Amino acid sequence: MIVARAPGRVNLIGEHTDYNAGFVLPVAIDREVHLYAQPRSDHRCVLYSEVLDDQIEFDLRSIPPAEALPEGWIRYVAGVAQMLTQHTGRTLTGIEGVVSSTLPLGAGLSSSAALESACAVLWNMLDDLRLPPATLALLCQQAEWHYAGVHCGIMDQFACLLSQPGSALFLDTRTLFTETIPLPREWVIVVADTGKPRTLAESGYNARRAECEQAVRELQSILGEEVSALRDVSPEQASLYLPLVSEPARARARHVIGENARVLAFLETLRGGNREGVRALMLASHRSLRDDYAVSCPELDAMVEACLAAPGCVGARLTGAGFGGACVALVEREQVDAFIQQVDLDYRARSEYEPQFLICEAVGGASVSPVS
Ligand code: GLA
Repeated sequence: MIVARAPGRVNLIGEHTDYNAGFVLPVAIDREVHLYAQPRSDHRCVLYSEVLDDQIEFDLRSIPPAEALPEGWIRYVAGVAQMLTQHTGRTLTGIEGVVSSTLPLGAGLSSSAALESACAVLWNMLDDLRLPPATLALLCQQAEWHYAGVHCGIMDQFACLLSQPGSALFLDTRTLFTETIPLPREWVIVVADTGKPRTLAESGYNARRAECEQAVRELQSILGEEVSALRDVSPEQASLYLPLVSEPARARARHVIGENARVLAFLETLRGGNREGVRALMLASHRSLRDDYAVSCPELDAMVEACLAAPGCVGARLTGAGFGGACVALVEREQVDAFIQQVDLDYRARSEYEPQFLICEAVGGASVSPVS
């Protein structure tokens, strides 16, 4: 029996930049999906999810196309199997096993990327495919596009597969350059889930993507083909030319261009241990997501305000796609209990939803090991 583990992630800064060829800074957290499996002599994949109390089964010799599958977690598993099969030209080994998870579903902590990554590292080992983690990440993203129908960026899969313990992962989503950024030991990451379901997330996400593409088209007509993504527009060009772009594309582009600059500035403030800088950049990111990108909601705003007012808070902002879900806060380790106590009271007074708090450590990317 072997176990594949794959972490969820929070993003410290760089939101909605990954499908604009920009920069992100996620952290893999110690809330994980575990896939316990053993090989089968046939080529069937038979898995049971403890969390969902549901069993899936399909044949790895003829993996069903997405349209032939019901909605749900089978699509992630079958999608990864299909992408690995297509990429390597091999028929994967059959498995049977159990999926368990300490990662809350639907809170914007990338439970789907974690499930995909667990499957990817498992088959990579079982079938001795020898694919590097970055290739696995790209194949998992393809699975998400073609099997789950979500046109996501590459941040979640990279965070899930390439992170190092105690660190954030800087990623340039254009070149796929990564750098491990150690986090100060005296701070912990607190995920503050608003309890507000992310209902509009999928349609809203796709709409934002389209608005960014619109901004690129309009900027191209002014600046030429050298602009192939919002990444290519400097803050100086933005102040000159964004006024010529139509709304809402203009506001969306303003967020993305500003956010890319904030990620780079954040790296400097982290390296310099500049607490005020971290706080200011996280707050600027949140405001930009709220006002220009329009992906916040009253609950996320209330949660960020409550966090910023609580003891020990270094900085806070919404994390992930938005439209509900969770905030991330950096908190002084010694004050974390007092922090959570106050935010809990404060948020409950402002919202009808039930908050949830996770104190997280930064962990390494997905891995496989034997179970004794
Ligand atoms: C979701 C997507 C990511 C990224 C974020 C927003 O988590 O899966 O690729 O676009 O939203 O930053």
